[in-house]
Amino acid sequence: MSQPFKAIKVSEHVYWVGAIDWSIRDFHGYATSRGSTYNAFLILADKVTLIDTVKKGFKREMLSRIASVIEPSKISYIVSNHAEMDHTGTLLEVMDEVKPEKVFASKMGVKAIAAHFHHNKEITAVADGEVLDLGNMKLTAVETRMVHWPDSMMTYLDADKVLFSQDGFGMHLATTERFADELPQWLLDYEASKYYANILLLYSSTISAAVAKVQKLNIPIDFLCPDHGPIWRRPDQIQKIIGDFLRWGEQKPSDRAIIIYDTMWRGTEFMASAIADGVAAGGARAKVMPLSGSHRSNVATEMLDAGALIVGSPTLNNNIFPSLGDILTYLKGLKPRNLIGAAFGSYGWSGEAVKQINAILEDMGVELISPGQRFNYVPDEDTLAQSHEFGLLVAKKLKEHCATCS
Ligand code: FEO
Repeated sequence: MSQPFKAIKVSEHVYWVGAIDWSIRDFHGYATSRGSTYNAFLILADKVTLIDTVKKGFKREMLSRIASVIEPSKISYIVSNHAEMDHTGTLLEVMDEVKPEKVFASKMGVKAIAAHFHHNKEITAVADGEVLDLGNMKLTAVETRMVHWPDSMMTYLDADKVLFSQDGFGMHLATTERFADELPQWLLDYEASKYYANILLLYSSTISAAVAKVQKLNIPIDFLCPDHGPIWRRPDQIQKIIGDFLRWGEQKPSDRAIIIYDTMWRGTEFMASAIADGVAAGGARAKVMPLSGSHRSNVATEMLDAGALIVGSPTLNNNIFPSLGDILTYLKGLKPRNLIGAAFGSYGWSGEAVKQINAILEDMGVELISPGQRFNYVPDEDTLAQSHEFGLLVAKKLKEHCATCS
């Protein structure tokens, strides 16, 4: 039967059979402004094997792509590399339709799938390093806990030198192109860094250890197949994305200050502009991000290339502005490291915001370079000149900080 969706050949025995989500714009708080894909892969081995499934609502698309290559009932094994529901949301339904001989997941994956779906089906746990015999080829399990869930594992197909890397090395990006070498490098760089910053940063040390573990296995990788976004197959791009992961994991500070702020009557905004001017005049770099137009996930992305976090807020009802509460809670959860920082803002009468931001920054582990700067109501030329001076101080401290940490 003719199928509306077609599988795309990845290697001699592997096909991409996932789904493209063109419309998703919010992935649990992450602005997926270019959509996403839920990648699943079909291995045409003696034991036909499906690697991962797709999010609920996309089963028809995945089964159609599978059916464009092989009758889905011919699938013998399903391997679930990651239990999060964008990859297991259709697992049980697919098991009902396909009736595979066996379904595999890591030990933690078996538990997580049970805790999500409260099912009574049999899922077999595979151990780290265990080799699944697909008849004419082998699939090896590599546990990669906390990349980025406790259940996470990768699997390696020796015959075609394919590493199925679940969320590792992926990005939220919906395209008809299936391979990274068909897309512009700037787009790959931006979306991969955004994915790392928002999904993986908190686990950067375990992720770097997992990448090192894969490197230590010394397995040739001709195809790197993540669960989101394009497939990597060009050797230089495979090396680059692995190198990017290790570099992002180090979180080395740069000479760049990210200045985030919100404003009521533009007093805090004037200060932000003058501070940025001072940072640039002092020979460092500044990126100003008004929170009225900067999504939290874009701020987090910019923080991958930063050495300072400078935060401005007016005082509203004795508190920081609500948008500051949102972004600081989000950034705190991601646990960025090696940052210096400071607070600023205009105020009317009580002016608690700067003090409150200082406390939050300290709680985040950000090293304060100043008690902060606050001005009453609308700053005039003289007070704004002080904001410029404040920017010069940020630049000076940034350069010292970079020198210490490099
Ligand atoms: Fe793509 Fe952690 O799920």
